[in-house]
Amino acid sequence: MAIRNIVKYGDDVLRKTCRSQLQFDKRLHVILDDMAQTMYEAQGVGLAAPQVGILRRFCIVDVGDGLIELVNPVLVSSSGEQTDEEGCLSLPGKYAEVTRPMNVTVRAQDRFGKNFEISASELKARAILHEMDHLDGILYIDRV
Ligand code: NI
Repeated sequence: MAIRNIVKYGDDVLRKTCRSQLQFDKRLHVILDDMAQTMYEAQGVGLAAPQVGILRRFCIVDVGDGLIELVNPVLVSSSGEQTDEEGCLSLPGKYAEVTRPMNVTVRAQDRFGKNFEISASELKARAILHEMDHLDGILYIDRV
């Protein structure tokens, strides 16, 4: 595993729409492993592929209860509302209040291409939605 450079705000790569990840191969696994190491080292709770310069639809989240890998995630449903402070590893040292749904259900594939569904609320829902936004070139500051 290796720590990758985190792309910082101002780089065009953070504003692109990512394409679907179609290969569930060793290369994807290496990137996902590197992303996890990079996220933990930076003490973040999530990281999306474009933040390591890869314009593909996958991201990871760990709010302290285990690592989640979401490949080609799609929002199934959301409900409620929460407002809390949010940050991003691409905008170090900056935080702002963002309102998002309280509960989400997302459908995604795992690193082997297997479909699964995950439901989350509170911080975990927030983190998942934040990372999914990255896949469409959206940053949390766009939602402030
Ligand atoms: Ni972010």
